[in-house]
Amino acid sequence: MSTISDSVRGPWSPDSFRERPAAQHVHYEDPAAVEAAVHKLRSLPPLVNSWEVERLKHLLSEAQEGKRFLLQGGDCAETLDDCRASIITSKIKILLQMSLVLVHGSKRPIIRVGRFAGQYGKPRSSPTERRMVPADGPEANPQELPSYFGDLYNRPEFTAAARRPDPDLMVTGYQHAALTLNFIRSLAAGGFADLHHPEYWDLGFFDRAELPADLREEYQRTTREMGEALRFMEALGESKVETLTRVEFFTSHEGLNLFYESAQTRVVPQWPGHYDLTTHLPWIGERTRALSGAHVEFFRGVKNPIGIKLGPSAQPDEVAQLCEVLNPADEAGKILLIARVGAARAEEVLPKLVEGVKREGRRVLWVCDPMHGNTQSLSSGLKTRSFDNILREVEISFDVHQALGSVLGGVHFELTGEDVTECIGGGLSEKDLDKNYASRCDPRLNYRQALEMAYRLARRMSR
Ligand code: PEP
Ligand code: CO
Repeated sequence: MSTISDSVRGPWSPDSFRERPAAQHVHYEDPAAVEAAVHKLRSLPPLVNSWEVERLKHLLSEAQEGKRFLLQGGDCAETLDDCRASIITSKIKILLQMSLVLVHGSKRPIIRVGRFAGQYGKPRSSPTERRMVPADGPEANPQELPSYFGDLYNRPEFTAAARRPDPDLMVTGYQHAALTLNFIRSLAAGGFADLHHPEYWDLGFFDRAELPADLREEYQRTTREMGEALRFMEALGESKVETLTRVEFFTSHEGLNLFYESAQTRVVPQWPGHYDLTTHLPWIGERTRALSGAHVEFFRGVKNPIGIKLGPSAQPDEVAQLCEVLNPADEAGKILLIARVGAARAEEVLPKLVEGVKREGRRVLWVCDPMHGNTQSLSSGLKTRSFDNILREVEISFDVHQALGSVLGGVHFELTGEDVTECIGGGLSEKDLDKNYASRCDPRLNYRQALEMAYRLARRMSR
């Protein structure tokens, strides 16, 4: 077992993180306004409840044993502007459709977790951004402003007023998360009967000229089989259809803004301990997972399942220490290790991490995020990702876990239900990217790319 200094294990409170250095710290000019926003958030009802959090933990514990599979996905940066019925509906729709394809391939129930209802805080590679203002011409001068840290902190426009971190955005973010979640809950309760019929899905990507014939045939066969299975279920009687169309969604976001998380963290009557009730599943980002930092300090004290992003530089002993601090009792369903090492390095890096966890005998759910290690910048400055690299990282992850007798228990995607042009492949090339590049942060798979990804994963999982 690794040794950890006692300072990481001292007394905890929802505010003890304030004593620790916070990576990605965003400076608010007015501390009183921060406390006022925190006070307001403390008085407001929680967004989720502890029963749901415990249920998710239970489902995740089954995924650790290979009995379920996690599908986590949504925007890189959710925005306040996108809190609209059509956008939320299409996000739910793509996650649901992908999950049905994955059920078919994996023969396992799928746990659906959205990056939504609070994915408003973004870590950035630099605290400030420089641009020429105006963009060109003889008057152009370089200007440096705080980077855009997501709608929970500031606004994206490149003006001093918009970029000034505003604590009231925590309350606005909470309200939009509540509106989003309310709508998702109503959609989930109302049933998605028509979505269960693949014959009504937009499967236009089957017709792509460059799609190899064998793959096209396989997609068609999968779709036919899914339709038949669902019609069979329906033929068994109305009650089955109802059960089938009632779907469960959980929420997740990066727990970046600890004032926001802490203000919604509370004890509940039914269980011991504190719950962070902004979301079911918070995760700690690659840039904020320092063992002695504020984020690990905060999340070690809450009962929620916790995701930890692991980039290519993660070391096995570091991972062991994080597991020990965040899950000292080795509780099942508690820790998700979300590896995002990149397709190019996955074969080299992933086995060391997986073996390390096995050696320590830790219970974790291994998840593959094939997005964040595969970002590339084009000469135009635009960020993109290739469908093929994304798929390759997941396939390598399956192979590595299989070879080591471990389980890849889930996947984590940045995707949208909209017809955006941000990732290359699956029918899009570099020259298509400016047609509808809408992300404020990282490039997402669009509807067709995401659905095709699900078909490809289902194919891999049915082996
Ligand atoms: C993200 O999930 O959007 C993100 C910033 O991830 P990471 O911490 O893995 O870079
Ligand atoms: Co991202």
